[in-house]
Amino acid sequence: MTMFPTKEKYLHRLLQFRHKICAFGHAPFSRLVLGIETSCDDTGAAVLDETGQILGESLHNQKEVHLKTGGIIPTVAQQLHREHIKRVVKEALERSNVDPSQLSAVATTVKPGLALSLGVGLEFSQRFVRRHNKPFIPIHHMEAHALTVRMLHPVAFPFLVLLVSGGHALLAVARGVDDFLLLGHSLDTAPGDALDKVARRLSLIKHPRCSTLSGGQAIELLAKDGDRTRFPLTTPMGSTHDCCFSFSGLQNHVKMTIMKQEAEEGIEEGMVLSCVNDIAAATQHTVATHLAKRTHRAILFCKANNMLPSSSPTLVVSGGVASNQYIRKALSIITEREGLHLLCPPAKFCTDNGVMIAWNGVERLREGKGILPPNVDVFYEAKSPLGVDMSEEVRAAAIKLPSVRIKIPN
Ligand code: KG4
Ligand code: ZN
Repeated sequence: MTMFPTKEKYLHRLLQFRHKICAFGHAPFSRLVLGIETSCDDTGAAVLDETGQILGESLHNQKEVHLKTGGIIPTVAQQLHREHIKRVVKEALERSNVDPSQLSAVATTVKPGLALSLGVGLEFSQRFVRRHNKPFIPIHHMEAHALTVRMLHPVAFPFLVLLVSGGHALLAVARGVDDFLLLGHSLDTAPGDALDKVARRLSLIKHPRCSTLSGGQAIELLAKDGDRTRFPLTTPMGSTHDCCFSFSGLQNHVKMTIMKQEAEEGIEEGMVLSCVNDIAAATQHTVATHLAKRTHRAILFCKANNMLPSSSPTLVVSGGVASNQYIRKALSIITEREGLHLLCPPAKFCTDNGVMIAWNGVERLREGKGILPPNVDVFYEAKSPLGVDMSEEVRAAAIKLPSVRIKIPN
């Protein structure tokens, strides 16, 4: 007897099959997919075979430039994608030892994201598939984040997924490759964006330990040496019994705290406060608590409506913010209490890359879903919600949470 239904058993066998990879570097007779990602500030490409084996990848990160300008300027991101996309795709193919003629399809992020960035990847991909006469698979960036875990573990549908990045916060039930129920989403900004803005307001780029780190990474590093109780912050949306998120109020509250401390220490904006570790620790703890509480309600909603399997239900957490160990620990307190299995892809697969897009292409290719001939015109969409929106039903259920202490050593 196996815990996986037939399709999952097939996936499990494919994962095992990777160990028997032939001398060509990929599974014999396996179809190959090129994935291309340009939705935000990473130019990524990768070639995967049907078992999920990564044959070759390349990633160009724009972080250094955007850190200097104090945030992503869309025209700058577009220009950098234009400068690097050809090389990145060429590198991924060369490292895979794969000629375009050997590909079974090209998968590219077409939604959601920065319009100017999406446009570069889409335009490049449409020219590429026409030149090489290959099928095209348009990819939803959040669907790709949600499914990446299945490249690494045989996770059966349905599972609960929390996606937290610089552009998104959402909770959804993944029921199939293209079948999602959206339980909650951010009403304003995303947690990664809030962390990036707090880091910027704290001038962490001038901090000797943080100059090359993203805002979220810098906050996590400094919080390790901070006292999270020194500057108490309110957990957002305490009186709203749904699974939506809000981070702009928290962002403002932290800004006010910073201004007050600057006045007390007699320093100006642009200088690094002496209490920067304590502010980082309080911010990180409040973000973690907010994510944990909304996720807890989503789990209870799923349980009340039998939306997850009774045996081995799983919470998958992904997106750039999911690489934060403190946030993972906060979520594990909830999953342990509620009997869910918690899975987070390693940090390199949580942030944006070409691999997750290629994997989404593999999953769609296997199921024959959303595969287009090369000559069909495809358009990008800057905004595109994931799946069917159930957030009103969740709000109407108004599930009250039991009190759980999120107590984590730094
Ligand atoms: O998924 P991602 O690479 O790009 C998109 O936003 O789609 O996520 C980037 C975001 C940034 O806001 C960054 O500050 C945040 O993820 N991030 C982190 C950590 N590493 C990256 N946030 C908290 N803790 C981290 N360790
Ligand atoms: Zn992302």
